[in-house]
Parts: sequence; structure tokens; C-alpha cells
Amino acid sequence: MLGKTPPMGFNTWNTFSENFNDELIKEIADAMVERGFKDAGYEYVVIDDHWEMDERDPETGIILPRPQKFKNQDIKSLVDYVHGKGLKMGIYTCAGVRTCGQKAASYNHEFFDAKVFADWGIDYVKHDYCQKPETQDGRVLMRRMGLALRESGRDILYAACSWGQNDVWSWIRSTGAHMYRSTADIFDSFGMISKIYNSQIDKLGTSAPYCYNDIDMLTVGMCGKGAAGAGSGCTEGEYRIQFCIWCLYSAPLILGCDVRKVSDEYRDLLCNKTLIRINQDPEARPPFPIGGIDRTIYLKQLVNDEYALLFVNTGDEARKLSFISYDMGWTENSGYKIQLTDIFTGEVSYHKNIVSANVPAHDCRMFIMKLVK
Ligand code: GLA
Repeated sequence: MLGKTPPMGFNTWNTFSENFNDELIKEIADAMVERGFKDAGYEYVVIDDHWEMDERDPETGIILPRPQKFKNQDIKSLVDYVHGKGLKMGIYTCAGVRTCGQKAASYNHEFFDAKVFADWGIDYVKHDYCQKPETQDGRVLMRRMGLALRESGRDILYAACSWGQNDVWSWIRSTGAHMYRSTADIFDSFGMISKIYNSQIDKLGTSAPYCYNDIDMLTVGMCGKGAAGAGSGCTEGEYRIQFCIWCLYSAPLILGCDVRKVSDEYRDLLCNKTLIRINQDPEARPPFPIGGIDRTIYLKQLVNDEYALLFVNTGDEARKLSFISYDMGWTENSGYKIQLTDIFTGEVSYHKNIVSANVPAHDCRMFIMKLVK
């Protein structure tokens, strides 16, 4: 069964937009293995929009890859290469009459395309929402691709991408989707990142095993070098906030940076074992905000009697953030102390009725919390 924990991988869109080819995809797969991303759990290499011809092949009806990007229009041998690295391959199509990049799309060809993808050995399909006919109910189109993928003869992870439209939270799980985009496209800027994660605060309970709320690709480590969308990059602290929040939300972890070139420091952040363990926690319980209306502190229950605690400071000054332990369910007569272990420094501290942490400006602190006698 697919999608038991949040999917992890890489997607071409943010860094490369339409500037990729088969050789680059191979280099990405190599780098995912050589630089430790695969060992950390990242498994899908996803080719986003712009791989496709403008029109279907007139003889076979197949959407073929562009010859300028894929030698001999051959996807199958690229898929074999990626599989040979122990990784999985993802591809993009769209529920509308054309993709967002105006290429041939899957509207009314869902069963045929799903079968072609399965024959190529594809393991993940991102299904976008551009140019969906107004007269068509999006729920039916998303269901149709869900059915087509299930019947394709291959286990294919279904990544629906309707950007939160048509109240997607209330019906997407029934389509068979394993993850679903809930927001507009992310840019590599902290304004956009915080807008996106704040927009899902009241929807966190709608993300669960086998169907996760996808708040779009991680921009960590892009540092303003992306081709798709605006974005001049983020500070180290802001990227730390992004990764900690994505892990806390049990959001799919899909890398948007150039994994060949991202710095070792950001690679280490993206491969942090404790943060990935929090993201992949099998119960995928939603975090809840505690300690005030500015939503700066979040707590998430994990398996094995652990909790993940995140303090976020989006202000321009360093701040001491605190909350009353009562607000997370602790009581004086429980007999427990609160033990915090800083995920980044390993430092351990103990607290009782007030928990606090000094947080630098535009940065966060994240802890594993336990209740101890
Ligand atoms: C939409 C999606 C993006 C990306 C582009 C490609 O905007 O939301 O994630 O796939 O299309 O054209």
C-alpha cells in the first residue's frame, strides 16, 4: 500500500521549470544517492510539466516526451536508470484539456494515459488542475484518474494537485489520492512560505495516512536560484522554519532545490534524522497550536510517548517564547516534569508549569519533549 507515511522525493519544477532533460534527471538521481538523500528516505524523482509534446502522437495517441529533452523520445530507459539507483520515478499530467504549461494533458484520456505510465514503469503521477473545463466537476475528474491509476496494473502513487479548490479537503480522500495540493504555488520567499503554512492551520486534521495534505515543494536550499515563480531566497533561519513546519505537519517532503548543488549545511538540514522521524511518524497526528493567538508554538504527539515541540519567531527581534504547560494538558499533580531535548544542539532542559525558549529573529527552536518523573 502506498502513502502510508508522507511521500518523499524531488521535483524539477521549482529550480528548473522547463529547463531539464534526461541527462539532468540522471544527474539528479546520482546526486540523491551520492549525497545521502536516498538514505534519508527521499525516493521519488519527479519530472514536472514541460516534458510533454504539445500534441498527442497522431498514430498511437500517446503523449510522447519532447525530443529536445529526451533522446529518441525514450522515457522507459530513463525510468530504468532511476530504478537502477534504487529510486522511483514520477511524472506530471493534468486533469484539464492542457497542462499549466499548455502541453497535451489527460482530460478524457485518463485510463489510456495511466496505462502508458504504468508500461513505462512510472511510480508516481502528479495530476494538475489547469484548464479544467468549467462544466466538469473536478471531483469526478480526480476520481477518474484515481480509478485509472488503480486499474493500471502497477502501484502508482497518486499526487492530486487542485490547489485547495472546490473545498478539496472534504472529498479528496475518497478519490484514492495519496497526497493533495491544498494551496497556490510556493515561491522561494518567506512571505509565501508562511502564508502557505498558516493557511492550513484549521485543516491539519484533514491530513492522515494514505492521503496527506501537500503544502507544495520545499524551497530549502534554493537560495533564490529557482526558475519557477518569484523568490529571492530565504535566510538560514527561515529555511529552518520551513523544514520544521513541513515535518511537523506530516507534509510530503518533495525537494525543490538542485540536489546536485545544494550546500552541505542545507543537505544536512533536509536529511536530519530526528526531523524526518517526526515527519514520518506512523500515526501522523496533527500538531496543535498552543500558547496564544500568534500561533508561534506547536505540539505534536508522536509514537513511543514522545512529542515534537516547535517555537517559531517570525518577528524581527529575538524573543523569549513561553506557554503555560496547563495549555497542553499537563497538571501540577501529574507528578511529571517536562524534558526537552533540542533537536539541533542536543541540549537537555527541564520545565514545570511554564515552558519557554529563546528564539532568534526569523528562526525557530525545535525539541523532542518527554514527560519524566
Ligand atoms: C501548476 C502547479 C505547479 C507546477 C506547474 C507546472 O502551477 O501547481 O506545482 O506543476 O503547474 O506548469
